[in-house]
Amino acid sequence: MRILAVGDVVGTSGCIMMRDFLRTIKKEKQIDFCVVNAENASNGKGITRSLAYELLDYGADVLTMGNHTFSKLADMSKLFEENANILRPANYPPGTMGVGYKIFHANGVPIAVANVLGRVYLAQLDCPFRAMDAIIEEIGTQAAVILVDFHAEVTSEKVAMGWYLDGRVSAVWGTHTHVLTADERVLPNGTAYITDIGMTGPRNGILGVKKEIILKRFVQAQHDKFELDENGRTQLNAVVIEVDELNGKAKKIERLTIFE
Ligand SMILES: [Fe+2]
Ligand SMILES: [Fe+2]
Repeated sequence: MRILAVGDVVGTSGCIMMRDFLRTIKKEKQIDFCVVNAENASNGKGITRSLAYELLDYGADVLTMGNHTFSKLADMSKLFEENANILRPANYPPGTMGVGYKIFHANGVPIAVANVLGRVYLAQLDCPFRAMDAIIEEIGTQAAVILVDFHAEVTSEKVAMGWYLDGRVSAVWGTHTHVLTADERVLPNGTAYITDIGMTGPRNGILGVKKEIILKRFVQAQHDKFELDENGRTQLNAVVIEVDELNGKAKKIERLTIFE
């Protein structure tokens, strides 16, 4: 079966890219199941209830989040209450609202999707590695296909997660840095891996934010409020992963980029 994983959807322009391209990509690439990181959909920080349903309507089967999960707290709480197809990182402390993994079905095949957050330069949550151990144990024989969105800052932590889960899950992809990396491969025990699947949204800003604002930070050490670069060119970053649905082993992973 073929899985599409889309990198962090940023702001209105990111949502427009999804509206305009997701259905076509799914058709052309014969996608069976689609995971979209949506933690920056609402003006760069978090997601609103209406945007979540919009992205699901455009063809996302499940939305994953990250360090901005609770930026729109009331909306997230409502989405979790409604049991919407949206995940928050699984390694938040016990008692946190929402779920960190879920089992879905595509063409009758069970597919488990998990979201975990890295700890280096991010919030000090529970250990993401042990969180994945617990999830894999809980899933047991319920699903052979297991997909992991590891939302983390540093490449070493992400590569470590790839090796840690190799042979135990179908795919581990990184999100959060908004820069698509070129290290996609299937690891020796059958796990598809890529350090970061990039970003869907403004192309000529800096990670989605107007470049003038970020340049001022670096060059003049002046911190202005973030504003997304919503009026310029846009991009969509994703990966297509082919998985043997019987044993959950990955066969292939390739990058996909669209520039508008
Ligand atoms: Fe993030
Ligand atoms: Fe992000």
